[in-house]
Amino acid sequence: MPGQDQDIPVEKLTPLEAVAELARLAERIAAADKAYHEEDSPILTDAAYDALRLRNEALEAAFPNLIREDSPSRRVGSAPASAFGKIAHRVPMLSLNNGFAEEDAAEFLDRMKRFLGMAPETPLPVTAEPKIDGLSISLRYEGGKLVEAATRGDGATGENVTANVRTLKEIPARLKGEAPEVFEVRGEIYMSHADFAALNARQAAAAEKLFANPRNAAAGSLRQLDSKITAGRPLRFFAYGWGEASALPGATQMEMLAAFAAWGLPVNPRTKLCFSLKEMIAHYQSIGADRASLGYDIDGVVYKVDDLALRARLGFVSRAPRWALAHKFSAERAETIVQAIEIQVGRTGTLTPVARLAPVTVGGVVVSNATLHNEDEIRRKDVRLGDRVRIQRAGDVIPQIVEVVLDGRPPDSTPYVFPETCPECGSPAIRPEGEAARRCTGGLTCPAQAVEGLKHFVSRNAFDIEGLGAKQIEAFHTEGWIKEPAEIFTLRARYGDPAGLQQLKNREGWGEKSAENLFKAIDERRDIALERLIFALGLRHVGSSSARLLASRYHSWSAFAAAMEAAADPDSEARRELEAIDGVGPALAESAVAFFAAPANRASLARLLAEIRPKDTEKINRDGILNGKTVVFTGTLERQTRAEAKARAEALGAKVSGSLSRATDLLVAGPGAGSKLKAAQDLGVKTVDEETWLDLLEGRATLE
Ligand code: IVH
Repeated sequence: MPGQDQDIPVEKLTPLEAVAELARLAERIAAADKAYHEEDSPILTDAAYDALRLRNEALEAAFPNLIREDSPSRRVGSAPASAFGKIAHRVPMLSLNNGFAEEDAAEFLDRMKRFLGMAPETPLPVTAEPKIDGLSISLRYEGGKLVEAATRGDGATGENVTANVRTLKEIPARLKGEAPEVFEVRGEIYMSHADFAALNARQAAAAEKLFANPRNAAAGSLRQLDSKITAGRPLRFFAYGWGEASALPGATQMEMLAAFAAWGLPVNPRTKLCFSLKEMIAHYQSIGADRASLGYDIDGVVYKVDDLALRARLGFVSRAPRWALAHKFSAERAETIVQAIEIQVGRTGTLTPVARLAPVTVGGVVVSNATLHNEDEIRRKDVRLGDRVRIQRAGDVIPQIVEVVLDGRPPDSTPYVFPETCPECGSPAIRPEGEAARRCTGGLTCPAQAVEGLKHFVSRNAFDIEGLGAKQIEAFHTEGWIKEPAEIFTLRARYGDPAGLQQLKNREGWGEKSAENLFKAIDERRDIALERLIFALGLRHVGSSSARLLASRYHSWSAFAAAMEAAADPDSEARRELEAIDGVGPALAESAVAFFAAPANRASLARLLAEIRPKDTEKINRDGILNGKTVVFTGTLERQTRAEAKARAEALGAKVSGSLSRATDLLVAGPGAGSKLKAAQDLGVKTVDEETWLDLLEGRATLE
């Protein structure tokens, strides 16, 4: 289960563990993307998917040097693949091996010389060119005319974006001069810093979504279904390679680039032919020094053996050429001053410190905040007000403070004292034994918790009300129109008349139509699944999977609420029953009971229940379809924890076993299933995926 509860905190991971986890995340997210975009059949819930993405982001923030070439953060939300046709690359579009240190470049050069049987002192000419941070594209020219343009996709198959690419001014529809009969030009589509800033300014003025960085903007622009939109976006191009070719116009990389230029294709002016490691490193450093003034994003320098005949001998290792190396820049760092340390209060009252920084540019982005995680982190780094700090940023992730620059810290500076009261409501903030976070005890009387709780209440796995997202909640809360969940449902009664509508309309972005749509969307959610309601309450330790567990145990809201109240007595039967649910620990039980014990919560719930109708969870037939059957689980379950799956199988009369044999009746296999899946196939044991398993549980499918 990808729930964050089970994740090891990022700061406790070793780089080796991080590498392994990043690889796992990349694989799982890619599988989920594929299922969602290409097969139209999601294998993850939105929340599970988001959790994976968030975890990936956190890991990348902590280990910027380990960001993978195929990292999910480097890919941008893609349009449904079906919208664009597919194109199989006749020559696969490969990736590059990465290095970060000079030694990596040295080793690369030595390795090739050894492979080619050259003496170490013999020069091996290598080109060094900027590694453009955009998206790669393959342009097919036949008889000198552009006939097809395809994105990289998975390297074997890309998307047909020909119509959009035709709108790019820098990509000629016809090559100048003599061109081979068939020639696929490969290179990078990107957006310059200036064009990116102007585009975002236009987007902001039109109240459209802003792009996080030039690469996302370029990708989003290229993947427009309407090529008129692409035409209005300032996309640019550099050619640096090729795919299928009926003839080559040169025998070296430099000659090939010269031919590209003669054909009218842009090539990067900072490409240089180097004859030694020293020259390669000098060029890497020179490009690195000019990085901020190039006007577009680059993330390193690519070295390539210049001589194409030698390249043919060197060949490929798995998915990357042996003849090339991407020498990446390390994460960008900068120094600035801590102007303030502010405390943010989350939904469950967690106090999170954020450093407000004197604005500084890091890697082309202005940074003015950095996360400080928690009280211990501030103490460990000894970050103080007014300190000069070194910050680091990688990709789109939140900047971090690497360290304090102690030189020049005033002698009268004092350590930061973490507040013991909530900055939002003044209630005591306490830190339970063994926990990293300090928490406000104000509950729903704390405005910060209230608004975060409301955001959670309308989130995707909770009430999921169309048109009522975090932004709207924030605004409505600030106006005082929605102060608690029940008030969402009384919004129409209070603002549905002409006078109320006028007030709504005075707010930016609201008209009669959108107000009516919102009221409708709210009404549609009055009948709500029990598990969604339980999740929406925002109890600590209750994620959507535990909410499902509780809903399937108690079936109805009244039974659930009664049980939570009865369980207030730690010696009660109700408490024992609650804790005995597989997957419900004492911490969860404690927080659920505490929530129902607070009179303010009870009153707020009563007002909510007057507005909505929780739907009962169907009782599972206990003479169950799994009576006497042996079930084995393998691989990753995405929609339930192992504990939940086991409990529900047992509730249906099954015996759950850890090992597979001829006696097994059913194997439930999630992604990543390995030997057990194979064995089941060999033994002819019935195997289902998690989706079918859930259908079985809920009576939508039978074992036959
Ligand atoms: S050569 C067979 N040269 O980097 C290798 N790639 O990390 C073909 N990239 O997918 C790639 N600038 O999108 C090459 N000057 C350059 C590049 C470059 C950017 C990108 C390209 C590729 C990725 C691999």
